[in-house]
Amino acid sequence: MTDFTDQFIHAAELIDQADGLLVTAGAGIGVDSGLPDFRGTEGFWKAYPALAQARIRFESIASPSAFAEDPKLAWGFYGHRLNLYRSTLPHDGFRFLVELADQMPKGAFVFTSNVDGQFGKAGFRDSEVCEVHGSIHHLQCMEGCASDIWPATEFYPEVDEEHCHLTNALPTCPHCGGLARPNILMFNDGGWLDFRQRNQQHAMSKWLATVQRPVVIEIGAGTAIPTVRMMGQSIDAPMIRINAREAQVSRSYDVSLPMGALEGLQGIELALGAS
Ligand SMILES: NC(=O)c1ccc[n+]([C@@H]2O[C@H](COP(=O)([O-])OP(=O)(O)OC[C@H]3O[C@@H](n4cnc5c(N)ncnc54)[C@H](O)[C@@H]3O)[C@@H](O)[C@H]2O)c1
Ligand SMILES: [Zn+2]
Repeated sequence: MTDFTDQFIHAAELIDQADGLLVTAGAGIGVDSGLPDFRGTEGFWKAYPALAQARIRFESIASPSAFAEDPKLAWGFYGHRLNLYRSTLPHDGFRFLVELADQMPKGAFVFTSNVDGQFGKAGFRDSEVCEVHGSIHHLQCMEGCASDIWPATEFYPEVDEEHCHLTNALPTCPHCGGLARPNILMFNDGGWLDFRQRNQQHAMSKWLATVQRPVVIEIGAGTAIPTVRMMGQSIDAPMIRINAREAQVSRSYDVSLPMGALEGLQGIELALGAS
């Protein structure tokens, strides 16, 4: 078994010298909480057997046209995910990230393509999180009421999982009564309302400008949709990359931790305690 002690110590040193923490995260961070990532079509179909049976790919169900053509199917998929994310407890690595954020002189920010709200659940404040692809816990109108994004708190989806089908009433827009959809950026999605995300991105830029020595911890960000990776790499900061399958880094001062999110974060916490 490979010994990662040196990498953990190096990661702890990078964190010790930093005055601000940027956490960049993709679906892989949630796997140790029991959530699926959607790595490849096979991975996606393993998580959603009903869609596998109908040969419907992630790119097809995650689209405005799926909501237009078969809203009960599209909400079967998103309703199942909404219930899953609501009932999931973030693993202990999230607790460590919250504590680390509190210890940083300039605090922290989270940049994630996850729509699952797990960082908020773990204790990060809304003002510290940028959900670049939106949030499943928020809804918007499908029909073009373009000025409102509202919380999904009053919608309790009931889903026939075998058929990926919503069995209770579809959520509706409080303004026009039309169909509501998740405020998530989907594929071929010209109708996504992005002002919530743009405000968050603006807050992140303002925060970054206050930090002199940022460090990036990237966790479970894939390469197929590289938004999260590109963000972390675009700022001038050392990076600690935790990824179960694709943890390579290109700069000698970065740290690669090829392992699960929980194991990686626990290793860093231990090394920080010892330093
Ligand atoms: N929870 C969510 O909100 C969620 C879940 C799946 C997909 N999505 C959406 O789909 C797209 C998927 O992109 P993505 O890059 O986030 O996910 P992805 O599924 O493409 O990639 C997941 C990454 O996590 C790594 N990984 C797997 N298990 C891990 C573990 N236990 N610990 C650490 N790393 C692990 C994989 O090697 C991979 O690099 C995004 O646009 C996102 O909005 C969101
Ligand atoms: Zn409307």
